[in-house]
Amino acid sequence: MEMLSPGRQAVADRVIGPRHVDIGCDHGLLPLALCSRLQRVIAVEKHRGPFETARRALSGSAVDLRQGDGLDPLQAGEVDSLSACGMGALNIRDLLQRGREKLPPQLVLQPQDNALPVRRWARENGFHLRDECWIDGHVVVDLQVGTGPDPAYAGLPEEAEFFGPLLLHHREYLSRQQQWLEGLGRPDSRLEFVRRLLRAFR
Ligand SMILES: C[S@@+](CC[C@H](N)C(=O)[O-])C[C@H]1O[C@@H](n2cnc3c(N)ncnc32)[C@H](O)[C@@H]1O
Repeated sequence: MEMLSPGRQAVADRVIGPRHVDIGCDHGLLPLALCSRLQRVIAVEKHRGPFETARRALSGSAVDLRQGDGLDPLQAGEVDSLSACGMGALNIRDLLQRGREKLPPQLVLQPQDNALPVRRWARENGFHLRDECWIDGHVVVDLQVGTGPDPAYAGLPEEAEFFGPLLLHHREYLSRQQQWLEGLGRPDSRLEFVRRLLRAFR
């Protein structure tokens, strides 16, 4: 079996299951890897080309492959966890929003770009941060259903939402974010915030 990239492995390691769905499965590597330890794995793919790729890759496995958009091919209560990786954060946010009646208690998300839209969506929709990591240049956001405001943000200024409250100790990640914000070439409260954090490492 093909090895998972470090980013996909970080997602796989965080999935609790035991019944899981991977949305946007494409080559099927993640659902295939999860299949060896979970009770049930469903894989969803929207587009025809990647769906055919997934069909070939998953044939003979126990993965239940379905074609469709986001959570459309799922029944409510069918899974305990969901992953969505390698897509734009806005696409992930929108598919979660459209399928919110069917969402399981754990969501493990790996957006291709800045994770802010999924963090914000989670705060507004009753999901708390369980964990976040930065790997291969991308953030993995691990969420679980919670009650009340997410304690991860307690006492932090609004700028923390952009960087991720659980990533504020990560020097290399913060340095990259600082470089990106400096590249914008305009005053930005997030830049002041990250500079303050980085000064504290010295
Ligand atoms: C860049 S690939 C990432 C594949 C894999 N998840 C990974 O991390 O390597 C994104 C996949 O998500 C699929 N996709 C995008 N939007 C989707 C949606 N709303 N529902 C299901 N699949 C979707 C695309 O067709 C594509 O195959």
